[in-house]
Amino acid sequence: MEKIHSLTGMMDLIGQRNNKTQIADRIFLTEKILRNIFQNYSLSEIRTPALEDENLFKRSVGDSSDIVNKELYSFLDKNDKSIVLRPEGTAGVIRSIIEKKIDGDNHKLWYLGAMWRYERPQKGRFRQFYQAGVEILGYEEGIAELEMMSLICSINRELDIKNSVIKINHLGNKDCKKSFCKDLIDYLKPMSAELDKKDLDRLNQNPLRILDSKNPETQNILKDAPVIADYLPQESKDLLELIKDTFSNDCDISIDYKLVRGLDYYTGLVFEAVSEELGAQDAYLGGGRYDELCSQLGGKSLPAIGMAIGIERLASLVNIPENNKTLISFIILSSKIEQKTYKIAHNLRLLNNKINIDIQLSEGSLKSKLRRANKDNASYALIIGEEELKSNTVIVKPLLDENSEQSIMDLNELDDFVKSLT
Ligand code: HAM
Repeated sequence: MEKIHSLTGMMDLIGQRNNKTQIADRIFLTEKILRNIFQNYSLSEIRTPALEDENLFKRSVGDSSDIVNKELYSFLDKNDKSIVLRPEGTAGVIRSIIEKKIDGDNHKLWYLGAMWRYERPQKGRFRQFYQAGVEILGYEEGIAELEMMSLICSINRELDIKNSVIKINHLGNKDCKKSFCKDLIDYLKPMSAELDKKDLDRLNQNPLRILDSKNPETQNILKDAPVIADYLPQESKDLLELIKDTFSNDCDISIDYKLVRGLDYYTGLVFEAVSEELGAQDAYLGGGRYDELCSQLGGKSLPAIGMAIGIERLASLVNIPENNKTLISFIILSSKIEQKTYKIAHNLRLLNNKINIDIQLSEGSLKSKLRRANKDNASYALIIGEEELKSNTVIVKPLLDENSEQSIMDLNELDDFVKSLT
């Protein structure tokens, strides 16, 4: 029969017992460590639905953005309502806060979940991907910016991310954004014949995004264009310097006045963490301040700053030492005695939760089960056959040290032995 395949750009993630050469295991481990870091920063978890009203993203991420314009997974439901698979998490979080009428309070939130964008798949770019996001709500520009940068530095440190640069920029206030955009348009208009269709669209819809163009000809034209640094109020420049000063002993932070983000809702600080190890899709995290989104979506005026991490990209960069938790491979040699033997294994698990116990569930010879234990890097094999069960003993075979002999222990000795393992 014809086989059914997964959809283009969508990955199955199947764990293979902490095998860090596998992207799935790297992703699961990365998520686990991120959850711990979020807890350390005293953030609360929020989970919003994967499906949302299409208008939510039109009014937040923006009609002119690629994400909404070209990449939305949108369809009509059975009631002819236009719904979408969320392309990002921020808009849903703010919708939820408004709906619950808690948009007048402060919140420090994190989330983790799948997002969907109908992009052309390539290395590091998928149609279904995972994001871990953080949204700090209710705090004016200032300390929240430092908290966000501190969090990013902690993530880099704890996951031992090498060759990371955190690019930061400021989009200034409304007036400066307006006059910068006007001067940028005035500069580019006479050269519009030299722009490709994508950049021409950007010029008409959201001129700031031209700065982000990947076209070398556009970048060449931009060499003499006005730069946002000349329009920024001093306090915005001071903030960028303050961030650099505060964290530069821990992270590589660089001010990049050309950094603009692909979503329309940003108003102040914007940032992206990039690594050259990722290739063309080099950003593994991005975010910024978005003080107007809540009121734009019908809520109160709620200052906000947030970021989202691309889990697949971050996971491919992590350098985490081997998990050296002791693994015991429990080998049962007869199916007749499984239940009684299983009780022994269960009790061992109660005695010491710092070690991992893998009960080999499959049928097979001792040889094949020992081969499997060695492959899994188990420290010990515990072997029980009918003989051992009759005499209330277990064979303990050390696997990592070739010079150690196997021994026979009675069940009390076994308890003490397992308790002593770390
Ligand atoms: P974003 O820059 O669109 O921001 O996405 C954040 C990260 O998600 C990117 O840096 C990248 O690592 C990852 N990412 C995006 N698209 C893909 C894809 N197709 N495949 C794999 N990874 C991808 C946001 O989504 C904002 N909501 C961030 C934010 C939160 N701003 C404020 N709060």
